[in-house]
Amino acid sequence: MAHPFRDDFIWGAATAAHQVEGNNTHSDFWLLEHTPGTAFQEPSGDACDQLNRYAEDIALLADLGFGSYRLSIEWARIEPEEGHFSVAALEHYRRVLAACHERGLRPCVTFHHFTNPLWVTADGGWESDRTADRFARYCERAVGHLGDLIEVACTLNEPNLPASLSMAGVLPAQGIKQLAPFVAAAAQRCGSDLERFSPFLLSDALRTRDVMLAAHMRSRDVLRSGPGEFPVGVTLAMQDCVAVAGGEEKLKEARAASFDPFLEAAREDDFIGVQTYSRTRFGAEGPLPAEEGVPVLVMGYEYWPQALEGTIRYAADVARVPVLVTENGIGTDDDAQRVAYYREALSALVSCLEDGIDVRGYYAWSLLDNYEWLFGYGPRFGIVDVDRETQARTPKPSAHLLGRVARNNAFDPGTFG
Ligand code: BGC
Repeated sequence: MAHPFRDDFIWGAATAAHQVEGNNTHSDFWLLEHTPGTAFQEPSGDACDQLNRYAEDIALLADLGFGSYRLSIEWARIEPEEGHFSVAALEHYRRVLAACHERGLRPCVTFHHFTNPLWVTADGGWESDRTADRFARYCERAVGHLGDLIEVACTLNEPNLPASLSMAGVLPAQGIKQLAPFVAAAAQRCGSDLERFSPFLLSDALRTRDVMLAAHMRSRDVLRSGPGEFPVGVTLAMQDCVAVAGGEEKLKEARAASFDPFLEAAREDDFIGVQTYSRTRFGAEGPLPAEEGVPVLVMGYEYWPQALEGTIRYAADVARVPVLVTENGIGTDDDAQRVAYYREALSALVSCLEDGIDVRGYYAWSLLDNYEWLFGYGPRFGIVDVDRETQARTPKPSAHLLGRVARNNAFDPGTFG
């Protein structure tokens, strides 16, 4: 049976600037990717060349049937040196947002998706309170130029990710910057030092969380003062946390460190952005490895599409504001597996809606096969294939199926794939 959605339900796909635009040369990640001994599999390079091909991507998304595009604007392009705001970069993003409107896509704009201008990271990055002030100032300039074209705004993407990965036992709590020599080398290359040089993902997890929480609250107020009137929220990395035999305490600790501070702050937001890929099981000693018999994906975590249900429920319960699923998807070379993943995930979404949870939209991650950070171009999250030689875009069956759901504003698991 087809499940209908509220008339204004948002169906979209998401990308992030550094992962698709290409040549983000003023960013901290660009330097890290190019430092000898780097932990990045390969540099981002031209990425998907979206800087030049945005009109094609926007047209493709609209033609597939979607109603919204979640993209990020790049702080390193907009403020490549402290206090120098590039009007040309802001004008570029105005053209991108205008192209969305022309094609009937509601732009959802994220103001920070992992990368910083190098000068910010070299001068304290996400371990310094100064960064919250600098971020708020950048948001003020950017929203001043773009606000009238924005339909939904996300301040920060997954500010809880380092805390979340450290609670799941994937990253050390103090951050890998203390352990990986290439980070010290990168710091030296830009005239900084390991104490000050603090990129996202690689720095102290709890310190990053606290500075980013302050940055979220400050920028939320800035974005709300317009121009434009749009809902403002933050997006969180949320695994479905499951306790196994005595793991309740560890599970609670993990949620308290990584989700709860942001979910509680979100009570003052207009929505909470939920981003889910898998689950983490906790035993009495802490996080557990993948369960026997459950497939493990290229990202190292379990194939567990039903995770979306638990994360939506938990986020709605604690934040008590409407939920937007701002990312959900799977890295795989097998699009049939992707289709099966989305079938399960959308069924989980429907079950939340049937229980009256206020979910306002759903974004697939990702529109394109793009740059997957430390993993390079290996994992493919796109519903649209990107040829790495020619940059040609080819929608996969999953893109057509999700586009049909979006166009009909109805989901029927029986005919999805
Ligand atoms: C991030 C994306 C990333 C995706 C898949 C999320 O944590 O927001 O940038 O590509 O997960 O790993």
